Amino acid sequence: MCGIIGINSNKPVSATIINSLKKLEYRGYDSAGIATLSSGLINEIKSEGRVDNLEKNSLVQSMQGTIGIGHVRWATHGLPNSINAHPHSSQNVSVVHNGIIENSTLLKKFLVGKGHKFKSQTDTEVIVHLITENLKSDDIINSIKKTLKSLHGSFALGIIFKDQPDLIVGARRGSPLAVGYGPNENYLGSDSYALKSMTNKITYLNDGEFCIIKKDHVEFFNEDGVKINKKILQLSSEEKEYEKGDYKHFMAKEIEEQPITLKNGIKEYIDTVNNDINIYNIPWKQNEISSITLIGCGTAYHSCLMSKYWFEELTSLEVNVDIASEFRYRKNRFKKDTLYVFVSQSGETADTYAALDLCNKNGMKTCSVVNVIESSIARDSEFVLPIHCGTEIGVASTKAFLGQILILYILALKFGSVRGDLEKKELSEKLKDLKNLPKLVEETLATDNKIQNVSSTFNEAKGSMFLGRGFSYPIALEGALKLKELSYIHAEGYPAGEMKHGPLALIEDGMPVVVLAPRDNYYKKTISNMQEVIARGAKVLLITNKSSDEIISENIWETIEVESTNDDLLPFLLTIPLQKLAYYSALKKGFDIDKPRNLAKSVTVE
Ligand code: AGP
Repeated sequence: MCGIIGINSNKPVSATIINSLKKLEYRGYDSAGIATLSSGLINEIKSEGRVDNLEKNSLVQSMQGTIGIGHVRWATHGLPNSINAHPHSSQNVSVVHNGIIENSTLLKKFLVGKGHKFKSQTDTEVIVHLITENLKSDDIINSIKKTLKSLHGSFALGIIFKDQPDLIVGARRGSPLAVGYGPNENYLGSDSYALKSMTNKITYLNDGEFCIIKKDHVEFFNEDGVKINKKILQLSSEEKEYEKGDYKHFMAKEIEEQPITLKNGIKEYIDTVNNDINIYNIPWKQNEISSITLIGCGTAYHSCLMSKYWFEELTSLEVNVDIASEFRYRKNRFKKDTLYVFVSQSGETADTYAALDLCNKNGMKTCSVVNVIESSIARDSEFVLPIHCGTEIGVASTKAFLGQILILYILALKFGSVRGDLEKKELSEKLKDLKNLPKLVEETLATDNKIQNVSSTFNEAKGSMFLGRGFSYPIALEGALKLKELSYIHAEGYPAGEMKHGPLALIEDGMPVVVLAPRDNYYKKTISNMQEVIARGAKVLLITNKSSDEIISENIWETIEVESTNDDLLPFLLTIPLQKLAYYSALKKGFDIDKPRNLAKSVTVE
């Protein structure tokens, strides 16, 4: 996904645009660019790589113009280089774009036939020439309207015009876009995070809408070019500027913030006085729900899978989980008595949003568990459960994962309790243990013991396995994903009981294998699976919880013991060493931990 910024001001904008782009780099960072309007001309400067490379260009330093747009790119069409970087400009129009134009090949053919010359391999460039072509016969609103109707696919656009030196146009379909309001200037941004340092007054465009941003006012239009009114939201200003502080990386900070994340969630959702759950105004009666389907991508999908075990343990509900990019194209049999839950940190993941949209179109009950409460998924769900973990910048999700599974666990307790599946006494016991969880996470974080040393073995290996059963299996998947996305080495999460059905053939002498075997109901079985891999030469890193009874096995390479608590909550603690393993592996490799290659913080394209 890409980052977009636009500023229409009464003072030069290039420096502010560059600073905003730096805040947007978590959305995409393989190239960057800026375009401003000055002395009746469009000035465009672009560079490969980080925004710093753009900033070093002396021409950017001296860039004039009080109207401008900027962009950081996560490549979808065309190599990540300065030619394919945005903005894309003709003599009269300059465009920044987040999304995918699915009919760009056809449009390019038509425009080349009209004599337009293309410079890049991108789909975005067709938008520039299409608007330029339409401006020959229409005014700006009709040119925009006509252009948008010809585009198939998704877009968030920022557009400036040589002959309209007092405005910026923004347009949205399928990719988020926000307008911000400042003193004698107004802004366009791909999300509120980009605008927060300049304003907390925000308006979100909905799909099909476009806007004309002047320095002293903003007009909004629907897809037919009819003027509409839009609400101005006051953003929560308690989230001060989010910086790394003393940490080397945002990810390191976000791992350490997890006790606070859990405290925030418990404070929000647990009534510690009456020992009850603060989830009210659920818009459906419990007898209207007999099953629940949880949907997400990546780490958010692992949260869904983790919660399946809790829902099955604590309620009589039938529970299904699905990966959003699979769900959206599956021949689904929608059921009125199913609650569809969408889990997403950013609330903007295209596949998850599309799955939600499909459920909405079929009149289903929808609920979302998100971190960004102003996001599209939150706005379009009937019921929203924010995780309140604060801004998460590191592309590899850590505190948001713990925040997601906390809220899902609490939701499972709520459903179990209101449906009569969970006795009051049992609920009260579990809530008591839950209140102690932040402290246990704090203690587990403090035992930063062997994990730094073992990380080199993972770095030197061809690949590794992460094994777990039951509650530990989703955590094994999450630990493998962390290692993959941060240190770029293959790692596979697998059900421990499944190894003998094929993957055992992968085990060779010295291969590092993480085995999650807390003293829960699956302990003995997992230990036998562990012995099967040790017998074939694996170097096993056993992650278990503290206990008085001896571990019934030998030849274990290393053992890490997390704090002990009730079985439900062990997954929270087992996650910590796995996050640190991935972090230290990447640190030793010298990789960019907050911005791993090829990835983006929120994937707002298919
Ligand atoms: C997690 O470490 C990854 N960055 C990625 O799998 C992420 O969880 C996924 O893209 C879903 O993002 P979302 O939670 O914002 O929807």
